[in-house]
Amino acid sequence: MTDYIWKKASSQAVDERVMRFLAGDDVVLDRELLVYDIQASQAHARGLARIGVLTSEQANKMVESMNRLRAAFEAGDFLLDGRFEDGHSAIEAWLTDELGEIGGRIHAGRSRNDQVAVALRLYMKERLRTLASQCGVIAEVCLVRAEAEADHVIPGHTHLQQAMPSSLGLWWAGHAEAFVDNAALAWRIRDWLDASPLGTASGFGVNFPLDRDGVAEELGFPRLVVNPQYAQNSRGKTELRALDALAAATGDLRRLSWDLSLFASQEFGYLEVPAAFCTGSSIMPNKLNPDTVELLRSLHATIVGARGELEAVLSLPSGYQRDLQDTKPPLIRAFSRGLAGLALVPALLDGVQWNRQRLRKAVSPGMHATDLANEQVQQGRSFREAYRAAAAQLDSLAERRPEDSLEARVSPGGARNLLLDRLKARLQGLGKDRR
Ligand code: ARG
Repeated sequence: MTDYIWKKASSQAVDERVMRFLAGDDVVLDRELLVYDIQASQAHARGLARIGVLTSEQANKMVESMNRLRAAFEAGDFLLDGRFEDGHSAIEAWLTDELGEIGGRIHAGRSRNDQVAVALRLYMKERLRTLASQCGVIAEVCLVRAEAEADHVIPGHTHLQQAMPSSLGLWWAGHAEAFVDNAALAWRIRDWLDASPLGTASGFGVNFPLDRDGVAEELGFPRLVVNPQYAQNSRGKTELRALDALAAATGDLRRLSWDLSLFASQEFGYLEVPAAFCTGSSIMPNKLNPDTVELLRSLHATIVGARGELEAVLSLPSGYQRDLQDTKPPLIRAFSRGLAGLALVPALLDGVQWNRQRLRKAVSPGMHATDLANEQVQQGRSFREAYRAAAAQLDSLAERRPEDSLEARVSPGGARNLLLDRLKARLQGLGKDRR
């Protein structure tokens, strides 16, 4: 391993097994954060030049050297591995390697504590943007299909029992609105955690007049996490809220997947999952299984599990505690797996094939009873009276057509009046004016 950045004359050797336990997995996770750490380190160097702690020449050399580090990292020529304690020391080691004594100047006025905090905020901001845009794309696919299949009859269920005639339009639009909401939530949470902790150092500030605002602006943060202690105490708290946004999406995806897997079963036979998302059985030659739908359903478990793990780490006193490092694995695991799963959803939904005849046939006469009661209400009867009368006339419903039932479903949001334009307008309004 390269020398620890904290090594001093008095340092004694740390047992290798201890270091592996402390840092072995962490340095691998830092691969996800290195580009953000570089970005923030470059802004920090420029900020130090503005207050005269570095000359502009020194800062420029550092910025250029870190550009080379990023390029080497992205090309796979620089491996962030157990040679380093973490991504932070790897950056300093690279700078010192390339620039000698100048490299050792990068850490003035900062600590690894604010360094990791700012990298994590940048990471979460980008992941939340991706989440919002993925939710938006899922909503769009659902809206397109809702429009195209607005009039297609399906049986509506409550309690998994036959309830009323419904439409594919209503079913699709219901899932569309869920993902519009999820996109909105991701943006809100992104805004909420959009603040720079950089320049709070180890949690107490430093004795230079750091240009924190200028550095924050350069990094795209509209405000500071002002208090150095809170910059550390908010670690984990922001991660939890980011996972809330992700869990809102995967929770709705779980429900959508449930519908798909149920409707795809031979007993229902309402739809076919596109073959590109299915795999076969090793023993039963007759089978093609909707595995993707099932693992999209269980995706939520990964996110909720990660949230629980994170929450459990946070029983801590104020200030930086090394425990906070353990918030990184659940955060990164949840976003890697969560976003990879969500990315598959648009094409999956696009390829779903409905069996229209089967859907229409599944609407039984009794499902028109509520329409009958409401028709009598329109003729002036009290609803309760009409309800009892309809219950006694179930035999009269055999000739009814579900298309007529849908045609009459004019209440706002109902099958004949889906208000897709409102959902579209809300979706289009999201993410506008965002940096
Ligand atoms: N890997 C550490 C973390 O995630 C980085 C900060 C280390 N700070 C320290 N004082 N040891 O928390």
